[in-house]
Amino acid sequence: PREKGWFKPYIYLYQHIWYAPAQLQALISFQKHFQAKDSDIIIASLPKSGTTWLKALTFAIVNRNRFSPSKHNHPLLISNAHELVPFFEFHDCKTNQIPDFSNLSDPRLFGTHVPCHSLPDSITMSRCRIIYICRNPLDNFVSFWFFYNKIVPPLSPKLSLEEAFERYSEGNSVLGPFWTNILGYWRQGKETPNKVLFLKYEDLKGDTKFYLKRVAEFLDCPFNLAEEGNGVIEKMIELCSFRKMKESAELNKKVKVMQKYENKDFFRKGEVGDWVNHFSPWMKEKLSKVIEEKLGGSGLSF
Ligand code: A3P
Repeated sequence: PREKGWFKPYIYLYQHIWYAPAQLQALISFQKHFQAKDSDIIIASLPKSGTTWLKALTFAIVNRNRFSPSKHNHPLLISNAHELVPFFEFHDCKTNQIPDFSNLSDPRLFGTHVPCHSLPDSITMSRCRIIYICRNPLDNFVSFWFFYNKIVPPLSPKLSLEEAFERYSEGNSVLGPFWTNILGYWRQGKETPNKVLFLKYEDLKGDTKFYLKRVAEFLDCPFNLAEEGNGVIEKMIELCSFRKMKESAELNKKVKVMQKYENKDFFRKGEVGDWVNHFSPWMKEKLSKVIEEKLGGSGLSF
């Protein structure tokens, strides 16, 4: 279709999930051709859940011996998290191939919004590890809405907040239904905790230091503060702070993300609970009900 959008009817259902056409094509070639290595690390999420932040933190942790977090020309300051940690399913796939990832050094870091049931076998079967970040759907929707409005028009039809909300909460938005994506990784994290680490944006905001240590342990590169110096974690937190990342995105305005997005558009407010500024009482009631219906009983709560 000429018009594009992230909501029904401009998206396609594939393996129970809605995709934009180009994304779906890329996913299919990734499913066919991607060969995981045991050392690969995958950052999985729904869009607008804190993916950029977790990509940056993980890159900083894994590469801290190559790039000190206090380095003024750290790659995260001169490039950006989406270039350093590329998504599988956002690439130009005219050739029905996957991009050449040979420039990535080991351990390779990737991002994905694909649900766990659609990951290629080579990821499931290898020893590569997955870190999932989940966000309260109320805030996730608000973030999604602002991003959509900034980025997808003018090619896409305008939708009011209420119309977009209806589609999101009914599961009819790109990469939705949100509960399928979240539940898949939640269950996998419970079944195979050495393979999937499940994190929440709210927790990461609440105690970044604790979760940085958790991520480093999960990836078998725990911090040794006696050797590395006491401030190393704080420096990493500062390097990947909302303020710092937004500031360097503004400075490097020309750097495009995934060939078309402005890096700076990935940094809006970076807060927990912004939904209160945008939801009417019926929206709060409706989405809370969906969350209870779909996620209740799973042990996951927000
Ligand atoms: P808001 O729109 O609520 O501000 P993603 O990276 O998955 O696209 O998620 C984007 C959301 O994460 C945006 O939320 C963005 O502001 C927030 N974010 C980006 N970098 C962050 C950081 N360093 N710390 C906290 N939140 C961050």
